[in-house]
Amino acid sequence: MEHKINVLISEEEINARISELGAQISQEYAGESVHLVCILKGSIYVTCELAKKITVPVTLDFMSVSSYGDGTKSSGIVKMVKDLDETIENKNVIVVEDIIDSGRTLSYLLPLLKDRKPKSLKLLAFLDKPERRVKEVTVDYNGFQIPDEFVVGFGLDYAQQYRNLPYVGVVEV
Ligand code: IMP
Ligand code: MG
Repeated sequence: MEHKINVLISEEEINARISELGAQISQEYAGESVHLVCILKGSIYVTCELAKKITVPVTLDFMSVSSYGDGTKSSGIVKMVKDLDETIENKNVIVVEDIIDSGRTLSYLLPLLKDRKPKSLKLLAFLDKPERRVKEVTVDYNGFQIPDEFVVGFGLDYAQQYRNLPYVGVVEV
């Protein structure tokens, strides 16, 4: 099915913001290395682009959790689908999430990661919808705050479609 999608954040704005975040992280972790934990699938685009902009040593790992069905409403249930391949003990972990909506996914995930004794644990959210928060989460690095609209592109999907759009847009329904 094809939908009309209205651009909310352009490709240029996204690239500029990711470069800024990469520079900020490189500065804050000078002399250290960072371990990016990408939350599949939505965060792959921002993780790859961000990693290219970080100048300190970077390693990557992937984790998959599900909190959404194929629609646009949260099920409220978070399930671990794929765990990390490597230990995070004593690493400077930055969790990279595509979007924080209710906050349920991260409020499940962050304590679980903290228990594994990373050296430090921070959260980067490409997009944040603060109006929708049900569970409180502290975002250390935020790409963009957006209004309460369902968005697609740059990793975000609608029923698995549109992840590959180079911009973030709102689906017209
Ligand atoms: P939370 O647990 O409610 O914070 O939801 C986070 C997850 O919901 C994200 O990682 C996305 O997979 C999905 N999600 C929330 N809002 C949107 C949206 O506007 N578009 C696409 N996916 C979304
Ligand atoms: Mg996600």
